[in-house]
Amino acid sequence: MARILITSALPYINGIKHLGNLAGSMLPADVYARFQRLRGHDVLYICATDEHGTPAELAAQKAGISVREYCDEQHEVQRKAGEGFTLSYDHFGRSSNPQNAALTQHFAHVLEERGLIEERVTKQVYAIEDGRFLPDRYVEGTCPHCGFEKARGDQCDNCGRLLDPVELINPYSAETGSTAIELRETAHLYLLQSKMQDEIRSWVESSDEWPQLAKSIALKWLDEGLQDRAITRDLSWGIPVAYNGKVREGFENKVFYVWFDAPVEYIGATQEWAEKIGKDDAWESWWRTDKGADDVTYVQFMGKDNVAFHTVSFPVTMIGSQEPWKLVDRLKAFNWVTWYGGKFSTSMNRGVFMDQALDLLPADYWRWYLMANAPEGSDAAFTWEGFQAAVNSDLANVLGNFVNRITKYCASKFDGVVPEGGEPGEAEAWMADELKTRMAALIEHYEAMDFRKAAAETRAIWAAGNEYLTKAEPWVKYKSDVDAAAVGVRVGLNLATLFGIIAQPFIPGASAKILDALNIPEENRNFPDGVDAEALMSALPVGMQISPPEVLFSKIEDAQIAEWTEKFGGE
Ligand code: 2FM
Ligand code: ZN
Repeated sequence: MARILITSALPYINGIKHLGNLAGSMLPADVYARFQRLRGHDVLYICATDEHGTPAELAAQKAGISVREYCDEQHEVQRKAGEGFTLSYDHFGRSSNPQNAALTQHFAHVLEERGLIEERVTKQVYAIEDGRFLPDRYVEGTCPHCGFEKARGDQCDNCGRLLDPVELINPYSAETGSTAIELRETAHLYLLQSKMQDEIRSWVESSDEWPQLAKSIALKWLDEGLQDRAITRDLSWGIPVAYNGKVREGFENKVFYVWFDAPVEYIGATQEWAEKIGKDDAWESWWRTDKGADDVTYVQFMGKDNVAFHTVSFPVTMIGSQEPWKLVDRLKAFNWVTWYGGKFSTSMNRGVFMDQALDLLPADYWRWYLMANAPEGSDAAFTWEGFQAAVNSDLANVLGNFVNRITKYCASKFDGVVPEGGEPGEAEAWMADELKTRMAALIEHYEAMDFRKAAAETRAIWAAGNEYLTKAEPWVKYKSDVDAAAVGVRVGLNLATLFGIIAQPFIPGASAKILDALNIPEENRNFPDGVDAEALMSALPVGMQISPPEVLFSKIEDAQIAEWTEKFGGE
């Protein structure tokens, strides 16, 4: 039994996430966690809300509540949405919890002792009326390169150049529009990433299990050369720049930068989990290689914009500490899910957000479509037409009909009992061959975290079942040879069971309905390898009672698509 630690990128606290966010980190992590649990492995799947930073402060201000209250509310909203999508976290934590603060402060302290942090004074934009320093993105002005008048302090959206806010001509506060801004000196802690360039490169190069997208992004950053980065900010909401309860002199009004503490929360949330289960030290065997974590495989899931932070900054923190921390073994990155090729946007009514989706249809419908079209090789566009086709064809026609047909037929002709009699023949031999190759391929795709391919193979297995029934024709045979019909029904019921079992990672809700209807005990729902296909096709005890499940999937009508297109946008 392997031990597998899984984390998905922590969603920012401000704003409910859209389907693209879900598809690029939490959902595939959940599918993978479910798969590995069903393979009998010891899995720990951790996520949390990423609660610090300016956007949370501003959103709270707008809502007229304290940041703490705002985060409490929003954490609950996101926790519920995750639950609605049946994300099987072992723990969904919060980066604003004390565990993360202590760990973050610990890392900063150790890194400074190792000569990897130093204090530097730089000039930054200060908004006089707001009485605060402005983060780069919150300063706007005219681009010095192309003359665009609404360039952001970090980047010009018109010419794409990266900017330093001090370069902007006629700068103003993006929040208030105020031009009463000036450059002021301010001290910050810098993480000296440049010193770790060689160590990080050799670690990345030796990571032979990273899927290609993650590795190529990491190497690109290394080729450009690692830059030292400020890891503190002039803000009040965040983790105090303190150690052992003592605030660093001159840092009374500063906190750690959100990107410094966020990945540390992977560990923090594991500590929260350990406390929750009443075994305070249980986190160590997942994270400390001196405490058993050397036999853990650690897998991270994230969108491609997060890769640099996970392959450079966070490893600099972990490796630079010279402490025995568990590093990522496999990092799966995703491109974007787009809304018809463009951006999701609440204000422009483009796209479906997690809470809205569940008001329309059950989680499984979305889960299936998003994973079958996972943005792996390139960006993937959500379209209503694609969604409708995937649900109606794959789920309702291929899987749903198969299960309904065979269970109903069994109920009407064989008293709802797995029938005995007859001998397997050609059709069964054909099906066994299909299963042997396809199940092996399916497991390979899962292990490689190729989710699109895993979904396509799952569908192909369901489709093979339909083809088998066409070949076996129990309904035709029944008229002349009940025993021959019994073989088809018995094998069909075994296939329905298998189809429910292999569908569990993608569509856990519908799978449970199928397996419950077939009376499959919990301990027999593990993911088989398919090597012994004949055994899979005859696993159900003869004489066992089954019943047809309630309706598994309802088809999406054109009228619904028209209504949703109107409401959430389309082409
Ligand atoms: O991009 C994001 O949504 C970030 N909140 C991801 C953080 S991942 C981790 F480092 F916490
Ligand atoms: Zn420009």
